[in-house]
Amino acid sequence: MRVDSRTLPLVPLLLGPVGALQLPLLGGSSSASQAPIAADKPLISSPLLQEQVKAENLMQRARQLYKIAELGEGEYNHPTRVIGSKGHLGTLDYIYSTLTNLGDYYTVSNQSFPAVTGNVFESRLVLGHTVPESATAMSLTPPTKHKEPVYGQLVAVANLGCDASDYPSDLDGAIAFISRGQCPFGTKSELAGKAGAVAAVIYNNEKGDMSGTLGTPSPDHVATFGLSDTDAAPFLEQLHKGEKVDGIAYVDAIVESISTTNIIAQTTGGDPDNCVMLGGHSDSVGEGPGINDDGSGSLTLLELATLLTEFRVNNCVRFAWWAAEEEGLLGSDYYVSVLTAAENKKIRLFMDYDMLASPNFAYQVYNATNALNPVGSEELRDLYVEFYEAHDLNYTFIPFDGRSDYDAFIRNGIPGGGIATGAEGVKTVTEQGMFGGVAGEWYDPCYHQLCDTVANLNLTAWEWNTKLVAHSIATYAKSFDGFPKRVEETSISSFAEEPKYHGPFLRQ
Ligand SMILES: *[C@@H]1O[C@H](CO)[C@@H](O)[C@H](O)[C@H]1NC(C)=O
Ligand SMILES: *[C@@H]1O[C@H](CO)[C@@H](O)[C@H](O)[C@H]1NC(C)=O
Ligand SMILES: *[C@@H]1O[C@H](CO)[C@@H](O)[C@H](O)[C@H]1NC(C)=O
Ligand SMILES: *[C@@H]1O[C@H](CO)[C@@H](O)[C@H](O)[C@H]1NC(C)=O
Ligand SMILES: [Zn+2]
Repeated sequence: MRVDSRTLPLVPLLLGPVGALQLPLLGGSSSASQAPIAADKPLISSPLLQEQVKAENLMQRARQLYKIAELGEGEYNHPTRVIGSKGHLGTLDYIYSTLTNLGDYYTVSNQSFPAVTGNVFESRLVLGHTVPESATAMSLTPPTKHKEPVYGQLVAVANLGCDASDYPSDLDGAIAFISRGQCPFGTKSELAGKAGAVAAVIYNNEKGDMSGTLGTPSPDHVATFGLSDTDAAPFLEQLHKGEKVDGIAYVDAIVESISTTNIIAQTTGGDPDNCVMLGGHSDSVGEGPGINDDGSGSLTLLELATLLTEFRVNNCVRFAWWAAEEEGLLGSDYYVSVLTAAENKKIRLFMDYDMLASPNFAYQVYNATNALNPVGSEELRDLYVEFYEAHDLNYTFIPFDGRSDYDAFIRNGIPGGGIATGAEGVKTVTEQGMFGGVAGEWYDPCYHQLCDTVANLNLTAWEWNTKLVAHSIATYAKSFDGFPKRVEETSISSFAEEPKYHGPFLRQ
């Protein structure tokens, strides 16, 4: 799960479909719909698959994943599985080797894609005589010149700073002071750089702190900070009165290009033209080991991929472990962007499993309705609802607004949905009554932090949700009867509009 406002030191971006390795994408070629290996196995059954789910086996995998996250300590001084780290490479090896050890039940492939990562090592902003508490270097910001402090007058930019003409002529050597709004942060930083500014400060035009990403790097970007509305107010007033404000900006950061990898596993059995697809993300943020986010979802998938091998399937099942989710859904975006129209059609639905074991959990179901999403999304939503109801568990609907890897699927006409247990949201009193836990605290108090360890998992929630994921796989692996057929292209463009979020970062 990606957040909208933390300072994440690591941020990559999709460079475009300039392919790294163009590995064969699954689905096209596997003609054998019943591989010999599975022919003598019992047909998939939801109760039988669910019965195999054991909390202790999930826990054992979580402990193993934490050990893998410790491989990141050399470079990061703490456990992490952020893309590019040894912790992430170890995670990929673990997933890949677990799958290939299952024999020929799955065709396993790596899909590499380019990403840009950034790391802010140190940053500081001084305005007048104060160090504004909310000042945060944006993700993918370049460093200040020579990675040294730069000095300049704070100069207000007109309007929302989305047009070159908003930038005054006395900006050379100055620090541009720009309102948030209308256009991406990256555009403002670039225009400030072109106008000669040595740094930029973008202040919130809404209540609250502000951090975000500059997005695709540009040679004209300058070191850029976000600032809260309240911290900005006194300086705006001084500037409006014509008073001078001196500033010092300092950012030590790097921005670099790397290659990272999605892992895809498809059953060799089952109808390859009708696939149920599901995914979690293999990466964590740089701040911690990510055992709930999304160790929980990734390991649920890995455990169920293992348990599924005891069964025969009628429809193909395709698992994905996305990379660079935390950098803005880069892996799932890339995957969907290179699907041909024919391959796109073979995916009957996509199910997203990101954070299934939050310690202060709620059972959350994405409110994916057919009115606003490709037809079939709502049938999937209702499958989750029926499961919780059948087991007398409470659930809530949460917005389906682009915050996880389902987004590219939906916007390209593929029905989707999923479940989660909550991230940085605050549990309400009503929800405390429904799920237990503590009202007034985050669903995951260790969200995107160092303490997202094995201790940050609620096993009750994890086990129930893994049973529900098992149920979702088994249902569609057995039959798509009653599930809407994929509709023709005409409807696809209607979901192409940009959602509220796309990835963890505010972009404008
Ligand atoms: C796929 O990626 C995994 C994990 O990095 C690696 O161990 C494996 O060798 C790769 N396989 C191929 C065929 O490239
Ligand atoms: C679910 O989404 C629909 C719109 O598609 C909306 O009408 C409904 O109020 C939403 N339900 C909840 C509980 O948010
Ligand atoms: C579901 O919520 C109700 C309150 O709305 C509560 O009384 C009940 O115990 C909850 N059920 C479970 C299984 O927690
Ligand atoms: C998990 O949540 C349930 C229900 O709120 C609670 O009874 C249990 O103690 C929790 N377990 C852990 C390990 O946190
Ligand atoms: Zn996540």
